[in-house]
Amino acid sequence: MSPSFLKAFKSSRYSKNSKKTKETNDTKDTKDAKDAKRPTNLIKKLSSKTSTGPPRTITAFASAHGGKTFVEKSIELPTLGRNDVGVAIICCSVCYTDTLYAAMYEDHVVGHEIIGRVESKGEDVTNVEVGDIVGFGYIRSTCLNCKHCHSGQENLCERRTTFSEGVGGFANASVWDSRFVYKIPESIEPRHAGPLTCAGASVFGALYGYNVSPTATVGVVGIGGLGHLAIKFARAWGCKVVAISANPDKRRDAVAFGAHEFVCLKDSILNTTKLDYILNTAANDPPWDHIIGLLEANGTLINLGVSRKGSMDIPHRPHLFKQLKVGGSLVASRHVIVKMLEFAARHNIKPEIEELEMGVEGCNEAFHRITHQQARYRIVLNVPRHLTR
Ligand SMILES: NC(=O)c1ccc[n+]([C@@H]2O[C@H](COP(=O)([O-])OP(=O)(O)OC[C@H]3O[C@@H](n4cnc5c(N)ncnc54)[C@H](OP(=O)(O)O)[C@@H]3O)[C@@H](O)[C@H]2O)c1
Ligand SMILES: [Zn+2]
Ligand SMILES: [Zn+2]
Repeated sequence: MSPSFLKAFKSSRYSKNSKKTKETNDTKDTKDAKDAKRPTNLIKKLSSKTSTGPPRTITAFASAHGGKTFVEKSIELPTLGRNDVGVAIICCSVCYTDTLYAAMYEDHVVGHEIIGRVESKGEDVTNVEVGDIVGFGYIRSTCLNCKHCHSGQENLCERRTTFSEGVGGFANASVWDSRFVYKIPESIEPRHAGPLTCAGASVFGALYGYNVSPTATVGVVGIGGLGHLAIKFARAWGCKVVAISANPDKRRDAVAFGAHEFVCLKDSILNTTKLDYILNTAANDPPWDHIIGLLEANGTLINLGVSRKGSMDIPHRPHLFKQLKVGGSLVASRHVIVKMLEFAARHNIKPEIEELEMGVEGCNEAFHRITHQQARYRIVLNVPRHLTR
């Protein structure tokens, strides 16, 4: 990760409820810090007596031991800005990217597939109302004033901030810039909406951004959270879909998700259908030469996966002699996320989920399952009743 990422993260406007915060703030904050140690239902009662807005002290689950475990903690949310919404979180699903951030940053609240109910809004908020069910995800804010932002590609803004530059979704509440918050269509349940906000947005963003035609044959490499949704979206898009996995046991599921064919990366690929596009969603470094061999001349490899090695070894000869194109895709811009939600509602696209309770145990279990490739296919952490606001 870049130094600017770290700098932005450290200068986050969120104040964690650390010892330093307690020493330097006034008596109100000292009182809040004391409240943080009390049971949540008591905080709720005290806060409702002493302030007009919702309680600012939240319960969150932060990374520890290099992302291998989580600890529960109390955190103080910032006061609402003019464009902000306060959101009571209902659930947050877990993306592989969360495991990367949690491994990098100690004492960090990850989670960026967040669904909640708006409980307060700043005076300039126009797109959502108190009580609305909303989703928000990877991008926290952008400058809104550069050529990328002006042209509706704010995911490419050089001044974008991400979920990690503040408190993420492993918590019972959050404050977010309303301009990066999306109203969830009524027909989509919160637990199914969570995985759409990053995984769904990312694979839809690739199909949309690369103008994939409905007559194209699309291969999806890596059948995980992103990959299984890529199969569903590409099928609904009208494409011929080929699922490509290192795990032969995923054949049946991939076909149920809508794949016309299944290719196991361990098998021979000689007689495999040639692909116009490949969406790589594998969370490792896939065998690029093998995968490139599946592309038709003039084909395009769209990479979404984060490489562990930091580079992609694309073989030179097929790249040149088949005139192949290789590109990347980063989540999606706001108007594409809105289109994705409409598309998912219209085509009844739902992720395949496993549900756990948000808490130390649930976060630990989710991370264990994801890093051991056991999740089928997205894990949703539901905020339990005793933490619900
Ligand atoms: N570009 C973007 O905007 C964007 C957005 C979100 C996430 N991502 C990245 O996209 C990738 C997929 O994320 P995800 O949440 O879908 O992950 P996931 O649910 O864990 O699925 C990843 C899949 O990759 C394959 N895989 C092969 N070897 C692996 C290994 N050693 N460890 C883990 N997975 C392995 C597995 O599929 P098979 O068993 O089928 O081989 C696995 O199911 C990650 O690198 C993530 O960081 C990118
Ligand atoms: Zn993600
Ligand atoms: Zn910008």
